[in-house]
Amino acid sequence: MKKVRDHYFHRAKREGYAARSAFKLEEIDRRHQLLHRGMRVLDLGCSPGSWLQYAAKRIGSEGRALGVDLQPVDVGLPKHVKTLQGDVFELTPEQLPPEPFDLVLSDMAPRTSGIRSMDADRSYVLNQQVLGLSAKHLRSGGNLLVKAFQGAPFEQLRKDFRGTFEEVHICKPRSSRSESVEVFLLGLRKHEP
Ligand SMILES: C[S@@+](CC[C@H](N)C(=O)[O-])C[C@H]1O[C@@H](n2cnc3c(N)ncnc32)[C@H](O)[C@@H]1O
Repeated sequence: MKKVRDHYFHRAKREGYAARSAFKLEEIDRRHQLLHRGMRVLDLGCSPGSWLQYAAKRIGSEGRALGVDLQPVDVGLPKHVKTLQGDVFELTPEQLPPEPFDLVLSDMAPRTSGIRSMDADRSYVLNQQVLGLSAKHLRSGGNLLVKAFQGAPFEQLRKDFRGTFEEVHICKPRSSRSESVEVFLLGLRKHEP
């Protein structure tokens, strides 16, 4: 992950977050009230762990969070947060709890090639996998937040979200660098199957 030593980088250090990304989730959460005490949260692409750190505080010890990433998570997390090292394309049903999640998060980004159209396509493929997992493991009425790359497949992803959720929002938090092609797509209230 590219390190930018700006205000958010220093704030993350001060507040003990593993990455400045925590403030992107914080901003979206403040606007849309995504996280609540007692919630069950799945965080895909969770390493180094700042979204899990933030979510852990918001859901409290009566909540549960599970993070999945190719990379290990080394930051200290409370007991109600578990992590799993692995590829989201290879997750088996036994690795996920039987109860559905209230909220699925994905800050996953593909390994970027520098070729914008290729990176946008790869991001779309990742998000199709997230949508597939959400179809099975997100409860009806639950919410999904994913990172996406602007580019040709973005409109298709937005359509896919519209087919799955009652409300769809595009979010560009202030803490996301303006020159970055990343945006977040938020689906609120998953339709009944
Ligand atoms: C921007 S980082 C996530 C930062 C995290 N939200 C935080 O706040 O600490 C993106 C992560 O997605 C993970 N990732 C990318 N492709 C993945 C895949 N197929 N399966 C699991 N994790 C993946 C990467 O390993 C990387 O750690």
